[in-house]
Amino acid sequence: MRNSVQGGETAVTGETTREPDLFASAIRFRSRAERALIEALPSRYAIDDQRPRNNAFAEVERSRRKVATLATANPSKREAHRMDRMRDKVVVVTGAAHGIGAAIARRFADEGAALALLDLDATRLAQTADQLPGSPLLTLVSDVTEEAAVDDAFVQIVAAHKRIDVLVNNVGGSRNQKLWEMTADAWDFTIRLNLRSAFLCTRAAARLMMHRGSGAIVCMSSGAREGTPWTAHHAGGAAYSAAKAGIHGFICDAAIELAEHGIRINAVAPGPIETERTAKMFEELCETSDYSPHRLVPMRRIGQPREIADAVLYLASQEASYITGTTLSIAGAR
Ligand SMILES: NC(=O)c1ccc[n+]([C@@H]2O[C@H](COP(=O)([O-])OP(=O)(O)OC[C@H]3O[C@@H](n4cnc5c(N)ncnc54)[C@H](O)[C@@H]3O)[C@@H](O)[C@H]2O)c1
Repeated sequence: MRNSVQGGETAVTGETTREPDLFASAIRFRSRAERALIEALPSRYAIDDQRPRNNAFAEVERSRRKVATLATANPSKREAHRMDRMRDKVVVVTGAAHGIGAAIARRFADEGAALALLDLDATRLAQTADQLPGSPLLTLVSDVTEEAAVDDAFVQIVAAHKRIDVLVNNVGGSRNQKLWEMTADAWDFTIRLNLRSAFLCTRAAARLMMHRGSGAIVCMSSGAREGTPWTAHHAGGAAYSAAKAGIHGFICDAAIELAEHGIRINAVAPGPIETERTAKMFEELCETSDYSPHRLVPMRRIGQPREIADAVLYLASQEASYITGTTLSIAGAR
């Protein structure tokens, strides 16, 4: 199978069947007329729950990659939507060297932001920074779970950029273990990495934003805040789920505290997202397990970092000026 882009339209050539094409179209098309057309299709074009599960899932899996491509590709079309929404804004992104954080940094850079990017991984941070368009950029190698390191980083950011308009608390992760085998160290590591980092950076940013009476903060929760079947089944994810549920509680209270200071704080809760770290794992799960995102996510595909970056940009922008204390799920209806 081969995908090609012709005159702004995505064409699929080669070894394809009609059914995946229509499935892809259902995701891609948006107008009322097109939706009506899709709804009117014979039921054989839909995913039929009466079929043996494995056949239906195999069919979905064949179309999965193409659907993901159609939903997120075509950068030339996406570039047309660029609106310089972050021109003259100073945006701090933590964990910007890899994965979703790198995509967020790129998205804000594309919108004209001046950036301060924090990460532990100096080499990859420099590589990510090198690939960004030419907006003012500060990179800081910093452990955002350490109080002194965070406070020092924010002093350096203000020295370089004079102020902070947006903070994206992206750093997070986990050491997964089954609950009955989990060490207290693994629990503490996960809570610290996700929650302490968000608290320390939010506190530092809020102190600065309060002086100006404005600012927007976006934190990274996860679909795991309500438990993730594949993680729970294969690895154990109680600490991570607790931490990501904690992010939701954190932004709910912080939004009330910060509202009178003109600062909004929200979270996004991604479902499974394809990054360097996760791609192989999701691929293996898909091939070997009934507890895989491809089977359990109603949209039948893994999300792309760019899709999270778009939502973060929205919550940080003026378009979300009356939204605070909200966790936005970006998880393909899971
Ligand atoms: N990828 C997914 O499927 C997924 C799903 C839901 C939520 N999330 C959340 O999204 C965020 C980003 O996820 P990702 O998959 O891109 O992660 P990732 O592991 O690919 O990237 C995390 C980045 O944070 C950096 N980092 C780690 N510890 C740090 C520390 N103490 N100080 C500074 N930097 C540090 C790493 O070097 C890395 O660049 C996380 O909060 C994660 O929990 C991810």
